[in-house]
Order: sequence, then structure tokens, then C-alpha cells
Amino acid sequence: MVEFSFAANRKIIFGMDRSSEVVPHLKKLGGKILFLSGRGIRNSEKWVSFVHSLESEGIEYIHETVSGEPSPEVVDSICDSVKAEKIAGVMALGGGSVLDAGKAAAAMLTEEGSVMEYLEGVGSKEPSGSTLPFFALPTTAGTGSECTKNAVISSPGREGFKKSLRHDHYIPALAVVDPGWLKTLSPSVMASCGMDAFSQLLESYISTGASPVSDALARQGLLGFINSFNTLLEGRASDEDYGAIALGSCLSGLTLANAGLGTVHGIAGVIGGLTELPHGTACGLLLPGVMKKTFSALAETDPNAPVLEKIRILMVLSGESPADGIAAAGMLTEKLEEWGRLAALPSLGRMGFPEELIEKAAADSGNKNNPYAFSREERLKLIREVF
Ligand SMILES: [Fe+2]
Repeated sequence: MVEFSFAANRKIIFGMDRSSEVVPHLKKLGGKILFLSGRGIRNSEKWVSFVHSLESEGIEYIHETVSGEPSPEVVDSICDSVKAEKIAGVMALGGGSVLDAGKAAAAMLTEEGSVMEYLEGVGSKEPSGSTLPFFALPTTAGTGSECTKNAVISSPGREGFKKSLRHDHYIPALAVVDPGWLKTLSPSVMASCGMDAFSQLLESYISTGASPVSDALARQGLLGFINSFNTLLEGRASDEDYGAIALGSCLSGLTLANAGLGTVHGIAGVIGGLTELPHGTACGLLLPGVMKKTFSALAETDPNAPVLEKIRILMVLSGESPADGIAAAGMLTEKLEEWGRLAALPSLGRMGFPEELIEKAAADSGNKNNPYAFSREERLKLIREVF
């Protein structure tokens, strides 16, 4: 009999131009809000109208901007700057980095000491799980942080790290997903973020930790990408396409939080700790190679492997007629390669990843919940192929 557990937000509001529906929820908190956002977004009309909706309802807030992936110092300094105030809740509007900074700040405003002390694999303290109410409004379609239980905190450099502050209670109480924000993004940001979300969906769909609930959500998200990502990469997306990608990203957060990820993220996370390369681009580069090898290795042991059957079902639902799971896996990997070409992802080397760190990236990375375990040599080959 099947067994699983599944954690999710208390509420998700999804729809075009529905961002201001966060306001009644902020009002209910009955106090001052810590409001984090990115910098770039503040030039858009949508931002002006969002801030107007807060102010016209008398929401009192302290605004801070976050740029780049949050470091422990950034999280600590945000918390220090508002500790004297009585903060009732935290709201973050932005990409994954802004959302992660908000998630970490909401938790750390209730804990003692630096966030470093609570990071997985770095600190010595367990997070208690206590957090201020946290509301997440994503403006990119990438990390799915609006639905995950972890905040990624980075300290990039040769001795650097990319680690998580994690607890089931850190899943944002409310996620307001408004696909209208995606229209403010450049095509290259859209492509890189989308590759991250798609990797998360596919890795959790084939994960050894998948459940019937995560499978249903991952499949829905994957189909949205298969139907809409091409038009988006070609710059002719409709509202429906923006909606499908924003939904895919949000679902990827739920599936990764409950089913886990695989070798793409096992390597991309380490690359992101060593250098400041865009996470989604690293995922997009590694994805075809990881999937090709995973599918072929599974097919060698068992042509009817359950993972291949899941891929067959996915491709049938997308309108294809694969003869079997192996043929379906071939169709899917072709699609991934096509997206890579359309997105014109630069190689790791061109993005500035130092060649002398390739060995270290292969040695330090892992396979997470990938259904095929890559050896260190195989991971080395994968990284070299996209260098
Ligand atoms: Fe990711």
C-alpha cells in the first residue's frame, strides 16, 4: 500500500493581476509588516499599482530591497534593522532570492543568534520551526520558493556554500501567484528561471521520494511547460502561456518540497556555492545530459521501469504517441535539447565558471533522490560536457 506525507501552504491564490488580494490577509495581521522586494521590479507600472493598493488600505510597512541570493549577513542585517519594531508579519515580492530572504527573516525574527547557526550542514542549532506569518508573491517563474519549506542562503566562493534553512513550518502561510509579473521579465531571465522550474518538476516526478500527490501535481506542471514554454522562449507568449509557466513553477515548489530533487540540482547547488552563476542556467545546461543517462541506465536494467512508464504517460497526455517508455524518454530529451537551443544558454565556461573547479564540483555534488545514482566520474563527464 502506498504511504506518504505531504506539506503545503495554508492558502494559495492564483490568477492574473490578483496580487492585491494579499491586502486583506495583511490587514488581519493587525500590525507593521516587513516588506521585502527586488530592485528591478520597482520600475514597472504593476509595482506602482501594487504599492498603491497597500497604501490606500492603510497597511503600515517597512520596506527593504534585496539584490542577489541572500547571504547570512544580508538576512542578519535585515533582522537587526527591524528588531526594535513590533513586526506582525513578513511579505516578500520578487524572485526566488527575495522570497528566500523573506522566509529566512520571518523565521529568524523569532530565533536568537545568526541564521548561520541554523543552516543545514553549517550551523549547530536545529530551527525550532517558529516563524512570523510569511506571505510570498513570486514575480519570476523559477524556484517555486512560494511553496517550499526551505530558504537557500549562499556564501559564494571557493570555500563558499549554498545551504538551506529548513522546516516544514517555513512553507509560506499564503502564496499569491500573479502570472502578470512575468511580463516584466527579460527573455533571458524568463528562460533561465523556467529551466529551474522545469528541472524541479521533472526531477521530483521521477524522484525515488515521489508520491501519488506529488506525481499528479508534477505532471500538471510538466504538461503546462510542454505546451507553453516554446512560445514563451520565442517571445510570443499569451496570458494562457504565462499562466501555465507560473503555475508550473508554483507546483514545482510543492513537488520538490515533498518528493525531493535529483542529480541536476545535486550538481547545480554545488556549482552555485562555488560561483555566482545563475542557478536556472546551470540547471538548464545539465538537464538533458542527466535525463538522457538516467533514462538509458533505467532502460538497460528494466525496459518497463516505472519511471519510464511515467514518462510514457506524460508524453501521451501531451498529445504524442510513443511506442513505449523508452521512445517517450527520447521525445522528452529532444524537447529539452530544443529548449536549450531556443534559450541560447551560455556554457559554464562562458559564464565564467573556473575550469580548475570542475573536479571539485563533481566530487562535492550528489544525486539527491535521482532514480539512477551517477558516480563521481559520471558527474565529472556531465559537467565537462556543458563546460
Ligand atoms: Fe532550483
